[in-house]
Amino acid sequence: MSELTFNKIAGAALATGLAMIGLGQLSAGIFGSEAPAKPGYLVEVVEEGGSEAVVADTPPDWGTVLATADVAAGEAVFAKCKSCHSIEAGGANGTGPNIHGAPGRKPGSHAGFAYSTAMTEFGAKQAVWDDDHLYEFLKSPAKYIAGTKMSFVGLKKQDERINLIAYLRSQGGTIPVPAPDPARAPAAAVVAAPAAGAAPAAEGAAAPAAAVVAAPAAVPGAK
Ligand code: HEC
Repeated sequence: MSELTFNKIAGAALATGLAMIGLGQLSAGIFGSEAPAKPGYLVEVVEEGGSEAVVADTPPDWGTVLATADVAAGEAVFAKCKSCHSIEAGGANGTGPNIHGAPGRKPGSHAGFAYSTAMTEFGAKQAVWDDDHLYEFLKSPAKYIAGTKMSFVGLKKQDERINLIAYLRSQGGTIPVPAPDPARAPAAAVVAAPAAGAAPAAEGAAAPAAAVVAAPAAVPGAK
């Protein structure tokens, strides 16, 4: 290959390259490259074990389940929250607010923390964090309070949420444990028998009977 031919080929290759770079910049200029409107990510938590069966996940009868909840297990679950929340009295705010005494506290009210508008608005209609609201919020924060700053995917497992709520209550919570309510199905029954959980306030009879039948089936999957 003569030197001239080589130069021609090299020149053509160079020109093509320059043209491609030019096009790239041109298209970037035309179409722009916008940052996503809502940067951020969800902290994914891999739930080990457990089936993905579709179940009615309604809040349990707190008067019953809190009596036997495992506070130490709840403290272990709290490890998932620690990167963002302190829980000791007077603890510092971090990515999330200090949550000492959260059960019984007005949502979005802790001093010195810049809450999202979504959380502030939630606090305007919900007087205090009670068991039911914590249960639903911790299941899927962003689904329950759209626009919350709490970028945590949530806790799917019902027993983890119950134990965690028992632990949160033990750390300065101010709401009393309610009396057992037979109209609400016990936790195991809610997991195993959606019909029982969904039944609107069946006066005692139907729900507990279903619970007794369903409870043994729920045990293997529970731990
Ligand atoms: C990635 C950080 C992060 C993780 C992990 C996290 N949170 Fe939060 N949490 C936040 C932020 C931020 C807020 C404030 C939300 C807002 O303003 O919308 C918040 C709010 C809350 C609130 C409401 C507090 C109030 O004053 O109204 C509770 C209760 C709460 N979190 C509990 C938990 C629990 C329990 C866990 C663990 C299962 C957890 N959070 C995990 C960041 C986090």
